[in-house]
Amino acid sequence: MIYLDNSATTYPKPQSVLNSCASAMRNSANPGRSGHNMSLATAEKIYSARRTAADFFGAENEENVIFTPSCTISLNMAIKGLLKNGDHVVVSSMEHNAVMRPLEQLKSRGISCTKADVFAGDDDKTTDSFRHAINSKTKLIVCTHASNVWGVRLPIERLCALAHAYGLLFIVDAAQSAGVVPIDMHDGYDVLCTAGHKGLYGPMGTGLMIVSGNNTMQTIIEGGTGSNSYSSEQPDELPDRFESGTPNFSGIMGLKSGIEFVSSHKIEKISAHEFKLMRYLYSRLEKMPKIKLYTPMPDDRYFVPVLSFNAEGYDSEEAAAILNRNNIAVRAGLHCAPCAHEAMGTLDCGAVRISPCAFTKQNDIDRLIYVLSKSL
Ligand code: ALA
Repeated sequence: MIYLDNSATTYPKPQSVLNSCASAMRNSANPGRSGHNMSLATAEKIYSARRTAADFFGAENEENVIFTPSCTISLNMAIKGLLKNGDHVVVSSMEHNAVMRPLEQLKSRGISCTKADVFAGDDDKTTDSFRHAINSKTKLIVCTHASNVWGVRLPIERLCALAHAYGLLFIVDAAQSAGVVPIDMHDGYDVLCTAGHKGLYGPMGTGLMIVSGNNTMQTIIEGGTGSNSYSSEQPDELPDRFESGTPNFSGIMGLKSGIEFVSSHKIEKISAHEFKLMRYLYSRLEKMPKIKLYTPMPDDRYFVPVLSFNAEGYDSEEAAAILNRNNIAVRAGLHCAPCAHEAMGTLDCGAVRISPCAFTKQNDIDRLIYVLSKSL
C-alpha cells in the first residue's frame, strides 16, 4: 500500500516507537500510585518522557507537559478551562472541529466567537484580520498553526504577540505542524495543544497539552492523581491537576520515542523532504487539465506539506475510492474541518488530501500521479 494519509496519523511508525510501546507493556505498573519498585520505575520513565517533550517544545519545566489522549481532548481542556461565561473568542477561518465544536457547545454559556480570515502568503493581512476581530469581551485567541486540509500556515508568533498586546490568552492547535515546523514555548504561547500520533510519530491515543507558567485554569476532568489523596479537591500542582486517571504508559513511551525520532532526523530535514515531494506533486498536478488546485505552490514560509485538490467530474470521496482500489491511501471529504472547506468554497464537494511523512518516497508520488492520470 502507498500511504499518503499521514495527516490523519503517520504510518508506518518508526521501529523504535513499536519497540518502546511493546517494552512498556511488558514492564510497567501504575505510576505515582504505589511505593513498590515497578511503580516507581514506571513513574521515572514517564518523567523522562515529559523531559523529552519539554526539551522539544521549549517548555519551562517537565511539569508543564501534560499527557492527554489526543489533541482534541487537549483543546477541550484548554478552551473550556480558560473561558468564563460571556467571554468572546477569536479563531481563524481554518479551524478543525476540535476547536469549533467545543466553542459551539459553549454558546449556551453566552460565549461567542468571531472567525478571522486567513490570507495564505500574507501574514500582515492575516494578523490585521485577527486584530479587527478582537472586541471588548475578547478573552482568548485560539487558532490552528496549520490547516489540516490546505496546509496553510498561520503566523502564530505574531498572533500570540497580538493576543498579549491586547491582554488576551493564546492557545495554539499544533496538530498539523508539530514535527514539521519548530515550535518554541519561549515564544509565549499560553497553551500548546498537539497530537502525538501525527508528525511526532507516536501511537494513536496520545496527545500533549503544554502550558506556560503555573497554569491553574479550571479542569474539565477530575479524579485520582496519586497525590493529595486526602483532599476531595483537584490538586493545583502540575501536571497532576490535568492528569487524572491511570496514564497511557505504553502510548507515552511510544510518543517519547517518536519525538526522539524527529529530533534525531531533524525537523528541518523531514520538512524539506516532504516539501520536495509536495512541490513535485504540485508541479505535475497543475499540468493535468482535470485537476483543480486551490492553493499556490507550497512555500515552507506559509504552508506545511499537505496538498488538497479535486478532479473534475468526480466527487472527492469517489476519487479517493479510485485511489484506494489502486492501493493508494488518502483522505477525502471534509477532514473534520468544514470551516476550512467553507473558506475555500469546497463545502459541497470536499477535497482529496495528500499528506506525506518522513517515510514517503518519490516512487509513491510517481505512482499517485500515474494512477490519477490514467484513471480520472
Ligand atoms: N484531524 C485528522 C485529519 O486531519 C484526523 O485527518
